[in-house]
Amino acid sequence: MRLILAPMEGIADHSLRDILTRIGGIDLCVAEFVRVTNHLLTGKMLLRTVPELANGGCTSAGVPVRVQLLGSDPVCLAENAALVASLGAPGIDINFGCPAPMVNRHGGGAVLLQFPEQIYAIVNAIRRAVPQHIPVTAKMRLGLSDTSQALDCARAIEAGGADEITVHARTRADSYRPPARWEWLAYIREAVKLPVVANGEVWTPADSEAIRRISGCTDIMIGRGAIIRPDLMRCIKSGDAAMNWPELLPWIIDYYQQLCGKMEPRHAPGRLKQWLGMMRATYPEAETLYRRLRTERDPFAVGRMLVS
Ligand SMILES: Cc1cc2nc3c(=O)[nH]c(=O)nc-3n(C[C@H](O)[C@H](O)[C@H](O)COP(=O)(O)O)c2cc1C
Repeated sequence: MRLILAPMEGIADHSLRDILTRIGGIDLCVAEFVRVTNHLLTGKMLLRTVPELANGGCTSAGVPVRVQLLGSDPVCLAENAALVASLGAPGIDINFGCPAPMVNRHGGGAVLLQFPEQIYAIVNAIRRAVPQHIPVTAKMRLGLSDTSQALDCARAIEAGGADEITVHARTRADSYRPPARWEWLAYIREAVKLPVVANGEVWTPADSEAIRRISGCTDIMIGRGAIIRPDLMRCIKSGDAAMNWPELLPWIIDYYQQLCGKMEPRHAPGRLKQWLGMMRATYPEAETLYRRLRTERDPFAVGRMLVS
């Protein structure tokens, strides 16, 4: 079984990938999407989103990080994929699931699920542009407003030459409302020969067993569950008990210090607040810190607050 950390734009950034992969249990990460429009990205820009490219494409714990591209033009995407490959990415993922209206208005993300032939053209162009030893994968939702084209989209991804497909078991219209439609993972797995990675609504080790049983998939991608419970993947792998707050706190401090080193210190408290806000569901202590951060804007006071 492989456990994959999901791409999460605005949350699972380089620093959080570093922390979560050092905590353990994660075999692979997919970085948040890089948007491709009508020009060639620069190495500098790609390094900003995926700084792991300067470290052989891996986090400091040695976990590979695939670069995710989002766009609608096969030629442009292929040229950018070739650039990403030349920078040493250990894999390239294509986004066919983003529900954001701004992205969809420009023809990228989930809207492509209405056009399996365009999905095929994109995957095929990228696969041809990228050396064979670098995996090209795709991540899709089940459709835009219904599941009627889910199997056609999965088949188009396979026909285009992808090595693997991750399915977030919801349509765009489902947004993030539970439950996810895990049974659809099994339908897709039966429709294609390439490996299918199961994604959506895995919050506990018991969920990870259930999604594997219902879908028949071996590998799982986890997003929000790994944010609110940073040792979730390790617990799934080892059966260990969950970390308590004193064990988790040094990781939070480490994260905050990384943020202060990378961004303007005045922005760091907001980013930390975001993570703590999500962790409140698991750790009551996160609630206390979160509340204090809501009023505190001085990054030095935040540092003192964390270590006190
Ligand atoms: C804040 C946020 C940002 C996301 N950004 C991306 C992204 O950049 N690319 C992508 O393919 N999916 C993105 N997703 C979707 C997740 O990768 C994942 O498919 C979804 O959260 C369902 O998995 P989960 O229930 O384990 O969280 C994002 C989800 C969230 C909540």
